[in-house]
Amino acid sequence: MKIAVFGAGYVGLVQAAGLASTGNTVFAGDVSHEKLEMMRQGKSPIYEAGLEELLESGLKSKRLNFYHVEDAAFKKALQEAQVIFVAVGTPEKPDGSSDMQYIFKVMDQLSTLEGDLSDKVVVTKSTVPVGTGDEIEAYLKKKGKTPVVASNPEFLKQGSAVQDFMKPERVIIGTLDPKAVALLTELHHPFMLKRDRILSMSRRSAELVKYACNSFLATKISFINEMARLAEAMGADIREIRAGMITDSRIGDQFLFPGIGYGGSCLPKDTHSLMVQGRKLQEPMKMMEAIDFVNQRQRRWVADKLEELWGNKAAGKSIALWGLSFKPNTDDLREAPSVQLISRLMEMGVKIQAHDPAAMENIRKMFSAAVYEGKIRLFDDPYEALKGASALALVTEWSEYRSPDFDKIKSELKEPIILDGRNIFDPKGMLEKGFRYRGVGSNSVA
Ligand code: UGA
Repeated sequence: MKIAVFGAGYVGLVQAAGLASTGNTVFAGDVSHEKLEMMRQGKSPIYEAGLEELLESGLKSKRLNFYHVEDAAFKKALQEAQVIFVAVGTPEKPDGSSDMQYIFKVMDQLSTLEGDLSDKVVVTKSTVPVGTGDEIEAYLKKKGKTPVVASNPEFLKQGSAVQDFMKPERVIIGTLDPKAVALLTELHHPFMLKRDRILSMSRRSAELVKYACNSFLATKISFINEMARLAEAMGADIREIRAGMITDSRIGDQFLFPGIGYGGSCLPKDTHSLMVQGRKLQEPMKMMEAIDFVNQRQRRWVADKLEELWGNKAAGKSIALWGLSFKPNTDDLREAPSVQLISRLMEMGVKIQAHDPAAMENIRKMFSAAVYEGKIRLFDDPYEALKGASALALVTEWSEYRSPDFDKIKSELKEPIILDGRNIFDPKGMLEKGFRYRGVGSNSVA
């Protein structure tokens, strides 16, 4: 098939490269000349396992093509495409609602194409407020364009986006138009050879499924984090509670890892957007409000523990941070707990010595003044980051931090304090090694 994709970010680029890999001709459009240049050379602007290989093979086969959205060639490609995916950003506005300007810019561009577009399917991949498909349809209709408008929400996880695309747990097709369902089913068929996991449903349901999934995942995380605080206050240990809970198959063992809160470009944004959508319909999302509150509080965990340990003697000390990205295997800092933590530490007068396998460049850009002034120092070697620091905080559980050389950690640190924001170290072992250790949800160690 001939496919066009608007937006070559996390979602659009994986979508474009993935669909090219199964024999489709894909025309991907983006607004960034810089990113387009990289992608044309087979370089992925984002850190995502397996993506460059897909990019390279797509370019080699000439089935993957990149354009600036304003190029005349992209317009020609749009005219030829049977399916047009819209994967542009819907960032959060200050009031928590979704900024839809990029989606409607795409629609304006589609309005300039020739014909009524009734032979095309326009598919939203971006997470959009429920009812957006209806708005798009009405908007295009006013301009004499009548494509089928469908929703096909993405369920990619950063860090394993390519794998999630290639082996999806489910594909949701949100349209009741039989031809569009058949076309989108055919397009996803190569990823369903073992087992069919395509669900077709109404467009509004498809739009809401996406929010329901991310909100439920956020619920699980805030639940375990709230339980962790209670366990700590009660002298119990959340690891034991978790172990006791997950043996119940109805509960399951995923997304029940306590930590310093969820971040990323999706869970915070989608829960906020759903709350705004509920309020507009006089259906306040009381649970989501609580889930968000618990998450905000949990993100302060590291700094709170430092205040407990150091009292008013924090200013002037240094802390080593291991991990900066919002989760492992990505360089993404959007809503990363580390960002809030760094700001708070700087307010406390604490100096930062950090390491991250992928996100240091992004931190350098984000906190350029503080890096320049030496308030934040970045190290290529995690152990170098410990030198002279009075504590180590484990912020992101990259696998390279999971079984470190504790003797070396102890000899490099000024004070043997470890704040384990992801509960990856064994508390008893930490005590035996002479650390002052704090994990989330346990007060069993000195
Ligand atoms: C999330 C969803 O998991 C994907 O299914 C969805 O497609 C995606 O959003 C999206 O809407 O595009 P992602 O943002 O990549 O994916 O990250 P997650 O793996 O969900 O992690 C989110 C945050 O929760 C991270 O900060 C992580 O550290 C935290 N987390 C996760 C916990 O604190 N505890 C857990 O048990 C699991």
